[in-house]
This record gives sequence, C-alpha cells and structure tokens, in this order.
Amino acid sequence: MPAFTASSPGKAILFGEHAVVYGQPAIAVPIRQVQARAILTPSPRSQPGAIRIQAPAIGLDADLQSLPADHPLAMCIRLVLTHLNLRDAPACKVRITSTIPLAAGLGSGAAVSVALIRVFSAYLGKPFPPKLVSELAYQVEKLYHGTPSGIDNSVVTYARPVYFVRGQPIEMLQSPAPFTLVIGDTGIASPTAEAVADVRLAWQSDPEHYETLFNEIGALVREARFALEKGQIERCGALMDLNHTLLRKMGISSQELDRLVECARQAGALGAKLSGGGRGGNMIALATSESADHIRARLAAAGASRTIVSRVEEQK
Ligand code: PMV
Repeated sequence: MPAFTASSPGKAILFGEHAVVYGQPAIAVPIRQVQARAILTPSPRSQPGAIRIQAPAIGLDADLQSLPADHPLAMCIRLVLTHLNLRDAPACKVRITSTIPLAAGLGSGAAVSVALIRVFSAYLGKPFPPKLVSELAYQVEKLYHGTPSGIDNSVVTYARPVYFVRGQPIEMLQSPAPFTLVIGDTGIASPTAEAVADVRLAWQSDPEHYETLFNEIGALVREARFALEKGQIERCGALMDLNHTLLRKMGISSQELDRLVECARQAGALGAKLSGGGRGGNMIALATSESADHIRARLAAAGASRTIVSRVEEQK
C-alpha cells in the first residue's frame, strides 16, 4: 500500500491577536513557505493497533499506546478514532516533520495537528472535511494554549486568508491586491499560553483599561478588513503600526520585537507589528515586491535569527 501524506502551512496573524481571545475579530493569513507534513506508511505485517509515531524534531519515536492522553500527537490520532467509533486502526507508522519554527507565533502546533488529523482520517478511508479537521485541531490547541481563540486551527486548515471571530463561522477574505509579508524572528521562544495567561491576569486586575484596548483593536481590524478587500495596502500598513502600538500598551511586546519592527519601518515597510503571542517569536512587516528583499536583509543585519518573505495572493 502506498504512503499517505498531508501538509499544512504555517500562519501569521495580520491583525487582532490577543483581543481575539476576548471576542474581537482578527485577520490571519497562511504562510506557505513553511509547512508541517505527516507521512503515513501502512505496516501490513504488524498487529492491528500498532501505531508508531515518529517526530524527529522533538526526539519522539514511540507507540501510540505508550503516550499519555494529553500528548498532542497522540490526541490527534485518538480524536480521529473516537470520531469514527473505532477502538484502533490497522497498523501503521506516521512520521511528522515541520519547517515551521516552534513557539514562534507561526502556528506550528496547529499545522502539525491538522496534517496529522488529515493523514489519519484519509488512511481510514474517511478523509475529514475541513470544518471537522479544524474542530478536532481546536481540541488539541487547548492543550498548547489553554484558552485558544481557534484562529490558528482555522487559518491553517483552510489555508486561505481569514477573518475570524471566536464562535462564529469563519469568513474567507479576498484581497484584489496581492501583498508581501516579511517575517522576522527574534529567535526568542515564547510560549503563547504564557502570554495569553499574562494578558488574562492583567485584564482581571484592570478590566477597564484592557477592554478599551481590545475594543480599539477590534475597530482597527474591521477597518483593516475593509482596506484589504478594497486593495488599500498602504492603509493596511498604517493599521499594522497602530495595532503594534496597542499591543505594546497591552504589555506583550519586547525590546527585541520593537527593535525589529522599527528596523523594518526604517527599511521602507508600509507597516510592521509583532505577530502572534508576542514577548518573543516573530514580527511581520508589510512590504511591496520591490522592497521585500531590502527589508529582509535589514532585519537579518539587525539580528533576526530567521527571515521569511511570503507573498499573499488569492488562490485560484
Ligand atoms: O502565538 P500564536 O501565533 O499561536 O498566536 C496566538 C494568537 C493569540 O491571539 C495570542 C491567542 C489565540 O488563541 O488567539
């Protein structure tokens, strides 16, 4: 039997991280230059139920049965089995690889879950539809994030720019003007769960201040959607700058992020901001196809540990 494969892109949040956890809208786009991939090879000579999971990047090579219930990779497979009312599956080996940096705000956890759920449901002859894939990946996101909004699993599953409001049907965004993002990694790993928990504590101790910030971000995201749909890319850049200012006020930027954001602006970006959980991880800059390489070089010279240039355009 041939191998089954599934891949999922990384993602970047263009607008609205953190406030999205509190019901405000956010906009995210897939980043196709980085991918998580799951390759499943049937093992017809092994006992049914013998499912081997290999993820070399995290040093994992184990049988499904030996992994605890809260292991994210095991949970993906068990969620698929439960959904199909199966106790186990024909023996196989699943190998997971990813070029998406970990704990960097690029959606690596969600992309791995989506690829694994897809490959496993396809192997069982019931490839799950996107809505179900995203819902199951959301269950796993809760392990990583605690109280995730659901934006990561959504954008990674649909692999299209999305306008996302927690608990509402996802909306795909169409922009008539393609645009280019330059992503710069501070190289500082920053678990999203910690940043989200800190914002929650800060909100609890000063709800008025934080709700004002969340509302301002929400208004800005609605305007950004309008600008994107009209192809007003320069306006989007200005709104990214504004979003970064509000995220700083929320206390989730850092010196390194601020430095790279400023560097991108000096290098001609239309706008720049941190992206994702903050504190460390990545920032993004809005560029034109002409300015992107220069911005990337300047970010690298300023100490970005990794840079990615990604063109965001409509999928035909
Ligand atoms: O750090 P990331 O890219 O996984 O993004 C998290 C986005 C937050 O809004 C901070 C949390 C969430 O669940 O939406």
